[in-house]
Amino acid sequence: MRIGFACILVAAAAASMSDTDVLSFLERMRTTPGQLYANIEPAEGEYLRGLVRQAKARKALEIGTSTGYSGMWIALGLRETGGRLVTLEIDKARYTTATSNFRATGLAALIDARLGDALVETPKVEGPLDFVFIDAHKPDYLRYYELVLPKMRKGGVIAAHNVTSHPSPMRDFLDRIANDPKVKTEIVNPGQQGFSVSWVR
Ligand SMILES: C[S@@+](CC[C@H](N)C(=O)[O-])C[C@H]1O[C@@H](n2cnc3c(N)ncnc32)[C@H](O)[C@@H]1O
Repeated sequence: MRIGFACILVAAAAASMSDTDVLSFLERMRTTPGQLYANIEPAEGEYLRGLVRQAKARKALEIGTSTGYSGMWIALGLRETGGRLVTLEIDKARYTTATSNFRATGLAALIDARLGDALVETPKVEGPLDFVFIDAHKPDYLRYYELVLPKMRKGGVIAAHNVTSHPSPMRDFLDRIANDPKVKTEIVNPGQQGFSVSWVR
């Protein structure tokens, strides 16, 4: 018998999935219509999960939830560090898909998903933050960065996506993180799109 994705969602809703089952869920998302919108790649997800571990993050923020794909990779890392994630999304349909996925995997217990404009919602997120992932409107990356930097714990990390695939609309952000003495930045490419990784001094 062929079990559909929706049935798996319902069946899994009650309990927290094992890491292996969450990884299978993430893989199924990639081939299921309506489940993807501008998400990171699997290798990038694995990288973010490791970065959460490396930062020993307890309090994390994601700007740009989409359908929840990257948020679940981050949450897998947070499950190991004992942390929690706040994730912000402006689009209601994508927010609804993401929250449904978080419930289905049981990761909802670790994720506070908020519907709204990150430029309005970020100031309301309580710090100190250990880990921030920026992956929303590219021309606003510098504004997101300026909102989160004062909330960061020393030794925390701010990662941003698409820095090698789409550098033009975020040039001001890239110049700032390269020259800001408050952070030490490297550019990494675990996939095709590139992350900036700025460690807070
Ligand atoms: C590239 S996608 C995020 C992909 C997601 N991080 C993943 O890999 O699964 C960018 C998302 O940011 C959202 N977005 C854009 N501007 C935003 C804003 N000002 N506040 C909150 N979300 C925003 C978009 O609606 C879109 O869903």
